[in-house]
Amino acid sequence: MLGLATGSTPLSTYAALAKSIREDRIDVSRVKGFALDEYLGVPPHHPESYRSVITREVVEPLGLNPDHVFTPRGTGSGITRAGEEYEALIAEAGGVDIQILGIGSNGHVGFNEPGSSLASSTRIKALAEQTRKDNARFFNSPEEVPTHCITQGLGTILRARQLVLLAFGANKAQAVAAALEGPVSSTIPGSVIQQHARATVIIDEEAAAAL
Ligand code: GLP
Repeated sequence: MLGLATGSTPLSTYAALAKSIREDRIDVSRVKGFALDEYLGVPPHHPESYRSVITREVVEPLGLNPDHVFTPRGTGSGITRAGEEYEALIAEAGGVDIQILGIGSNGHVGFNEPGSSLASSTRIKALAEQTRKDNARFFNSPEEVPTHCITQGLGTILRARQLVLLAFGANKAQAVAAALEGPVSSTIPGSVIQQHARATVIIDEEAAAAL
């Protein structure tokens, strides 16, 4: 089972996976996918909902069964229970084998903003202003960027059997250095990766500049 991150960073990884699945005729019919997060209040059919993004960037190119790929629910009644529901779905499916992670310029993973509990589970969170600014490029105007999200917690992420953190470009350098070499702290949510026994970090030279 694959844990899926959105954002620009993992796109090259998804493209490489798609190529290898095609060329090596890998059977993906039993692969399941669980996205890290979703915007709150953005309907699934909206082009920038993470459901749509995951469908476009992962499900279709990799040829996964859309019924096997899940995103947290960001709309509908009883939304306060959506976090628990998602945790139950992940557990029923047997847990995430490989969790792909990006990192925000403020050190967030998933949408676990600075201050997130290291033991947190899937829940509704407010987005940091920096994140709303960073993600404004996907919307028509900065005001359109949602203020809240539902995200797997840091505790959820740590339950994956293996983590793969990807970071590219100079604007990730500070976050990467703080996450990998700073103290494990909710100030830099990405620092939880240090607590995982099987974590791989793949970064380019620019993102490694402050190490
Ligand atoms: C987004 C996502 C994260 C992602 C991060 C970095 O808002 N919620 O899962 O890792 O921010 O995004 P990018 O890869 O576009 O820099």
